[in-house]
Amino acid sequence: MNQHNPNNLEEFKYNFNRIHSLKLKNFRSYNDLKCSFNGGPVVLLGSNGSGKTNILEALSLLSPGRGLRNASFDQFRNIKGPNEWGIIAEISSEDQLIKISTGVSAGRLRGRDVKMNDKKVTGSIALPSVLSLSWVTPSMDQIFIESPSSRRKFLDRMCSSFNKKHIDSIKNYEKLMKERNKLLQDISFDKTWLETIESRMVTEGILIGLTRIEILKGLNLRLEKDQNPVWPRAFLKIQGIIEEELAYNKIDEVREHYIKTLFDNRRKDSISGRTLEGIHRSDLLVSERNKGVLASQCSTGEQKGLLLGLILTHLDLVAEKSNQYPILLLDEVVAHLDQLRRSSLFDQIINTKAQVFMTGTDANLFSAIEGAAQFFSVGMGRLKEI
Ligand SMILES: Nc1ncnc2c1ncn2[C@@H]1O[C@H](COP(=O)(O)OP(=O)(O)OP(=O)(O)O)[C@@H](O)[C@H]1O
Ligand SMILES: [Mg+2]
Repeated sequence: MNQHNPNNLEEFKYNFNRIHSLKLKNFRSYNDLKCSFNGGPVVLLGSNGSGKTNILEALSLLSPGRGLRNASFDQFRNIKGPNEWGIIAEISSEDQLIKISTGVSAGRLRGRDVKMNDKKVTGSIALPSVLSLSWVTPSMDQIFIESPSSRRKFLDRMCSSFNKKHIDSIKNYEKLMKERNKLLQDISFDKTWLETIESRMVTEGILIGLTRIEILKGLNLRLEKDQNPVWPRAFLKIQGIIEEELAYNKIDEVREHYIKTLFDNRRKDSISGRTLEGIHRSDLLVSERNKGVLASQCSTGEQKGLLLGLILTHLDLVAEKSNQYPILLLDEVVAHLDQLRRSSLFDQIINTKAQVFMTGTDANLFSAIEGAAQFFSVGMGRLKEI
């Protein structure tokens, strides 16, 4: 994050996303919650199981997808309440106040509705166009050792802050791929239809690949220049045939090759029941820049530092490229930082004026940010400002 300088008007060029209020109806441990935020950093304090992560999860659902726990929609409703749940938030974006509502009404089996100023919208397109959100959660500690799919999702979420249509492209690609896999199971499949599907898959796949390459380039450049010694610096690389080809070849050539690969693989894919090659198999390789060691081989503390350093670099990059400063959700992050990293994080939060929501069980860890942040105690399905 950039250093704050009161004489520097540069900082005011950003459009800071802010969440001003939040209402939860029958969401997780909350029956009926209303709370307001003053636009500054927010600290949510409470004992284990008091409902802190549930609040961050509700906020994370103001972006497309299944939220920071990657939960299914039927898990969100309060188990003691009716078969529906809802979230309403007032946010500001580009100096406009916008009401976002999302939830599931009784009887609906799939997906969630998203409304903007009470008008129904397609969440995957409309949400990223007004709000950019990023988060770090305890389960992300595993990201460097988990399967490629979680790193790919992480990368694609970072991409969505730049290209508002990125998540929609992924959804389209996945839908087309499902259709292709289904067609390949049918002995008398319609060849022209399959060709059309493969061609559309390739179009979406190339768009996805190009955005991934662009964001990686931007992040690597920033990480290379970054002189902040507090966070270990990551070096990022995509392992994926399409992105590797896109980096060195003309788009038309990659397109032709991608189509040929899908064509050649039809038999193999039909036997395995899935599409074996493509943009959906790529992986994000992260290594520690100075040592050249893969993140999965780094110490636990180094991995946490790499991840947080990467997220903070991403926020700066989004601000630089899109003029929009994202909101950051940090679940239980502060407790795991040493004194130096903790004070560096607070300095960065205060300096950039980003709205950051943090959770913790121990108020003492946040003493350095007292006065600059809004503190709430969480418990019994309520938030009380302290
Ligand atoms: N669908 C649900 N309906 C009702 N309660 C739920 C639901 N899902 C989770 N809970 C409960 O919500 C409570 C709060 O969970 P949450 O994860 O927000 O706690 P937390 O304050 O983050 O705790 P910790 O400090 O341990 O991380 C838990 O007791 C959990 O069992
Ligand atoms: Mg929690």
